[in-house]
Amino acid sequence: MSTQAHPRERVLRAFEREYGRPAEALVRAPGRVNLIGEHTDYNDGFVLPMALDRAAWIALAPRDDDVVRLLADDLDQRGTFRVESAARRDARGDAHAERGGWLEYPRAVAWALQADGGHALRGFDGVLSSDVPRGAGLSSSAAVELAVAAAFREASGFAWDPIDVARRMQRAENHWVGVASGIMDQLIGAAGVAGHALLIDCRDLTTRSVPLPTGTVVVVLDTSTRRGLVGSAYNERRAQCETAAAALGVAALRDADMAALEAIRATLDDVAFRRARHVISENARVLQAVDAAEAGDAAAFGRLMDASHASLQGDFEVSSEALDQAVAAARAAPGCLGARMTGAGFGGCAVALVEADASAAFVAAAAAGYERASGRAGSFLVATAAAGAGTERDLTVR
Ligand code: GLA
Repeated sequence: MSTQAHPRERVLRAFEREYGRPAEALVRAPGRVNLIGEHTDYNDGFVLPMALDRAAWIALAPRDDDVVRLLADDLDQRGTFRVESAARRDARGDAHAERGGWLEYPRAVAWALQADGGHALRGFDGVLSSDVPRGAGLSSSAAVELAVAAAFREASGFAWDPIDVARRMQRAENHWVGVASGIMDQLIGAAGVAGHALLIDCRDLTTRSVPLPTGTVVVVLDTSTRRGLVGSAYNERRAQCETAAAALGVAALRDADMAALEAIRATLDDVAFRRARHVISENARVLQAVDAAEAGDAAAFGRLMDASHASLQGDFEVSSEALDQAVAAARAAPGCLGARMTGAGFGGCAVALVEADASAAFVAAAAAGYERASGRAGSFLVATAAAGAGTERDLTVR
């Protein structure tokens, strides 16, 4: 079998090889790219991500007991655990990445689904494969977590409430990785709408699907750099935002405006001031971008992406040399309407809004420009907005 096979085919074929019978169910959960609204989710703010047509897939058959047997086909590694033992563990103290490697993700999911009067789970035999690039800021781990959650749903038959599942997966991630991440990645992965971006209000978790401006495509530019020490820098940003919110006397930066921030400028240290300025201005940009998308004003949408990048680079300080080079190369390429870093930052991916009929020329020029500037080959993906996590009815091996 070619290693290039799509993960859907990989998991269906590998299931038959591994367990000697066809799979009984197939689930997928997408990665995501955030179009605008960065480092706003944990400030109760607004984000506008879309689910990607890159996803984690699991082929499975439910079991009569509470054992989970899983083959991670991409790693060629097998693992087994009991749902009941996952429920009893303290995920922070015990379920640590370093201890059990990849299998700790499914265990953390089993823990989070059962926690606090959650769902009764049955086990399954499964095979997992994903084509979401790892560590690139495209939510590869949220995709795996949501795919495992969807597999448990197939095996156990609980009702799937995307918001509840997203909250539980966020908890699994927070406890397991120790990064105090927001809800964006899990909620877009659970609730994405095909062909649309999703405006998420990260305070009340309401969502609205937003069409991309007509005649445009979204291109993801992977710098081939991977972020290091992202956990500590991320948690530090979050703490700085909380300091600024406290100084402003508001529950979260979502509740502040630029005039209020200017009014207390003299009392705030420069770093906290700039962090808050990013969040407040970024929240406003998200809402303006939604208006631009709904009015079909692609140029305005692109300008907001450019402004978002400048703010993340100068005020929030989460860009990197490679991300800046990718953004500059994108802006110099034909058909580019706007470009910015995407995700937590420090490495990984940038995203550009591009005129659809220029997309091939854009990719060629941006790839060459990025390689010239950085000495690295990037990889480029013209993205299609996919639906959130779900069950595939067609189990035919193609
Ligand atoms: C990571 C986190 C998200 C969000 C982004 C930054 O992807 O998981 O919750 O905070 O960074 O916007």
